[in-house]
Amino acid sequence: MSDTPAKIKMTGVEKRFGANKALDGLDLSVNAGEILTLIGPSGSGKSLALKSIVGLERPNGGTIELDGARVDTLRGEAYDEFLKQFGILFQRSGLFDGLPVWENIGFRLLQLPGATRKAVREQAAETLRSVGLSPDAADLFPAELSGGMQKRVGIARALAGNPPILFLDEPTAGLDPIMSNVINNLVLENVRSLGSTAIVATSNLVTASRISDKIVMLHEGRSVWAGTPDETTTSDNPYLYQFWNKKKDGPIKMPVSSMAFQ
Ligand SMILES: Nc1ncnc2c1ncn2[C@@H]1O[C@H](COP(=O)(O)OP(=O)(O)O)[C@@H](O)[C@H]1O
Ligand SMILES: [Mg+2]
Repeated sequence: MSDTPAKIKMTGVEKRFGANKALDGLDLSVNAGEILTLIGPSGSGKSLALKSIVGLERPNGGTIELDGARVDTLRGEAYDEFLKQFGILFQRSGLFDGLPVWENIGFRLLQLPGATRKAVREQAAETLRSVGLSPDAADLFPAELSGGMQKRVGIARALAGNPPILFLDEPTAGLDPIMSNVINNLVLENVRSLGSTAIVATSNLVTASRISDKIVMLHEGRSVWAGTPDETTTSDNPYLYQFWNKKKDGPIKMPVSSMAFQ
């Protein structure tokens, strides 16, 4: 045990939308320099957990700490400073339609003091290469890109400028296995070589196995299992077992007819 506080820690976080307890006492923590992956069925609260930490959704209860200090109460300038530490990929990429690819990627960099458009454009082109896209894509607009390309531009934007904390929501959804592997390696390289800390929400079990230091499984807004990638294959936790082995029967009730599993 060390005395260093977790990089990010959520304790008993609750978020309600009307009668729906979307986060229902969620506990999570990730240490500096590690990759935490959130898995769990659709609607289990993965995206909401990420949004709550960065203050895009404000919890109704519980606490969120960064390096041991409360951050869920930050507002105004202190909140803006807090947010600058994050590179974020939203589940639906969230690109600015009116800006070309390079300005999307360089959005945060352009706001730094002394930034020039020429230097940021060059940096954006380089980042495009790292996600397997040609620098020629720099001047295209998001609407001119396929879904998979938009996803990769979103990842490039999250990584640009090497932020100390990466939040990636479904970074490999909709990508083919080869491109998924490129992205998995990129996330790993970024965290391992730059010492950043990452939380990744994913429905891709290959991604979860490949990149995670720790995996947390969510179900109905709570953590129901936590472990390492190796432990996923030996765990007899019923939630993890059902989800990891894609079983119809178990504690997770899916709103589909049994026909779909035949
Ligand atoms: N802005 C919102 N308004 C109402 N309900 C929401 C909102 N955001 C999320 N939810 C609900 O919170 C739950 C968790 O959603 P989400 O975090 O997106 O799930 P996941 O990412 O695991 O698929 C779902 O029941 C969803 O409908
Ligand atoms: Mg989601």
